[in-house]
Amino acid sequence: MKKKKLKISVVTLFPEFIENYFNFGIISRAIKNKILQFQAVNLRKFASDKRGTVDDRPYGGGLGMVLKPDVVIKSILKLSKPTKSAPKTRVVLMTPQGKVFSHAMAKRLAGYDHLILISGRYEGFDERVRKFVDEEISIGDYVLMGGELPALVISEAITRFIPGVLGKDDSATDESFANGLLEFPQYTKPEVLEVAGKKYPVPKVLLSGHHGNVENWRREESLKRTKKRRPDLLK
Ligand code: ADE
Repeated sequence: MKKKKLKISVVTLFPEFIENYFNFGIISRAIKNKILQFQAVNLRKFASDKRGTVDDRPYGGGLGMVLKPDVVIKSILKLSKPTKSAPKTRVVLMTPQGKVFSHAMAKRLAGYDHLILISGRYEGFDERVRKFVDEEISIGDYVLMGGELPALVISEAITRFIPGVLGKDDSATDESFANGLLEFPQYTKPEVLEVAGKKYPVPKVLLSGHHGNVENWRREESLKRTKKRRPDLLK
């Protein structure tokens, strides 16, 4: 079978900020191994004047600036053309008005060949840009200065679903949300941790070497923890 490869293009006014992030850790290894291809595209390149103007005042008045629709749409049209090597493309707008990002969305987006993530700054996008995107994603109910961090957050969550990116094949299947539950508690050495005269032991069952009992305990703890912290996941 041909190796799955994902390309991510982030359109931004701060390409250096984005590029820097991709030089570290698991993501940089995936790029070196040619499982992931990544580019930060400077939105200013698509401005139509010499000064590289990307924003303007809002019609109707008000504070702040709005990203010019022609500039953003030009970047989308340039980047989103499907190619032979990347037939399945998806244009995603980073905005607090989008659908709130989740494990399931990350998994679905990992199935595309090319993701184009549009991150804005200032007060937002001209409404007409929305006609040229496939979906809108928010990373939570708060407003950031721009879409750069959201683009990185979703890039990282998506990358973890590409086969070969994580060291062990199954390390993405055990973790929180993979089975609709939060992950069970984890422990490592020492067996009894001592801090300020107080002892914190590891649960006995994990030291028993009995796989069946360990599995049952983990499943129960997962369920208990999810019920307590995130009852919404059980619905
Ligand atoms: N841009 C600004 N805030 C955002 C958020 N919460 N999610 C996605 N994009 C954003």
